[in-house]
Amino acid sequence: MSVRPDPAAVPHLVVTPGTAFGIYVHVPFCATRCGYCDFNTYTAGELGGATPQGWLAAARAELAMAADVLGEVVVDTVFVGGGTPSLLGGDGLAAVLAAIGDKFPLAPDAEITTEANPESTSAEFFEQIRSAGYTRVSLGMQSAVPRVLATLDRTHSPGRALEAAAQATAAGFEHLNLDLIYGTPGESDDDLRRSVEAVLSADVDHVSAYALVVEEGTALARRVRRGEITRPDDDVLAHRYELLDTWLSDAGLQWYEVSNWSSPGGECRHNLGYWNGGQWWGVGPGAHGFVGNVRWWNVKHPNAYAQKIDEEQLPIADFERLDAHDRHVEDVLLRIRLRGGLPVGLLTESERERAEHAVPAGLLTAVDGHLVLTRRGRLLADAVVRDVLYD
Ligand SMILES: C[S@@+](CC[C@H](N)C(=O)[O-])C[C@H]1O[C@@H](n2cnc3c(N)ncnc32)[C@H](O)[C@@H]1O
Ligand code: SF4
Repeated sequence: MSVRPDPAAVPHLVVTPGTAFGIYVHVPFCATRCGYCDFNTYTAGELGGATPQGWLAAARAELAMAADVLGEVVVDTVFVGGGTPSLLGGDGLAAVLAAIGDKFPLAPDAEITTEANPESTSAEFFEQIRSAGYTRVSLGMQSAVPRVLATLDRTHSPGRALEAAAQATAAGFEHLNLDLIYGTPGESDDDLRRSVEAVLSADVDHVSAYALVVEEGTALARRVRRGEITRPDDDVLAHRYELLDTWLSDAGLQWYEVSNWSSPGGECRHNLGYWNGGQWWGVGPGAHGFVGNVRWWNVKHPNAYAQKIDEEQLPIADFERLDAHDRHVEDVLLRIRLRGGLPVGLLTESERERAEHAVPAGLLTAVDGHLVLTRRGRLLADAVVRDVLYD
């Protein structure tokens, strides 16, 4: 990556016209920490006095600074993620969206998503956020099997996630995602089948399914190290991915990114922006942004974030400028993960030659000038990218 010229300099940010522009808002609060999660989120005891009210005031101020820096940019997508955005309640999430709308014009067909944890939602919550202007909800379900949820330290019952999905649908949400985690120690193929059947019964238009990653420093990693549970096996994870892909595609949900399936028109436009080289501003502690050729990330703790804002500074921890080579590597890394595939014209001659070897190996197929991962290729996506990019 290119080294920034002056460590103290705040980058000059200018949106390049012609690509989608999004706003990501990071809500850094969780009621409890799930044993597998290393996201930038804090439980009450870890907040050191920081409060959701203080966070909202600081986020508003960051939005005002963003509007000053960028000028008038139309927002195509908003994604409120976490942490647990639903802990803000319907009022809090309505206030977040109003704060964005105060500072930026929203496209008439803007996609406005919030993540939510089933246990901090209700029928009223969904009605409130729907009438505030949210168009899409992403619920963390993870599994339909109580034993698996217990291993993941999830505090909701399997039924609550489905009930929340039904309440969101009743409130008028046509775009609904359920997150699943597969490969949890102790999960069987049959457990996964039960989870997928439950997801399909909820009639959602989007499913994200992630292989459980044992992140260093988490309670899960400590349990694995102590030998209390065994790390998910790669062959088992690959088999589960194939099962998921078969069951979801048979039900009309097609993969459009390696870990994401949707019905036609149900794709998450905000996330497609990340994968297609779009630009976005990340608001909140630890949020990342990418505008022009600059990628930056905010300070992580809510108190450090609020302090920077109090000092009327952008709450940036650091940034880097991407040169043409960095952008190329990033493009290949991200676009290969999409069902649309990698345009062959994007590759250098030697990359194209290396990519062509992956075709007879059954990892990529050529479709209309694009190289698309096969199902086996999707399982080995990282290795395929390495082979294409490097000798
Ligand atoms: C960080 S969470 C935020 C949303 C919400 N708090 C929740 O838990 O549903 C987003 C998603 O990331 C996934 N995730 C987080 N940590 C993971 C891990 N270590 N392995 C696999 N998936 C993970 C979970 O599926 C989760 O729903
Ligand atoms: S998985 Fe979601 S609810 Fe659990 S700790 Fe992470 S952000 Fe919070």
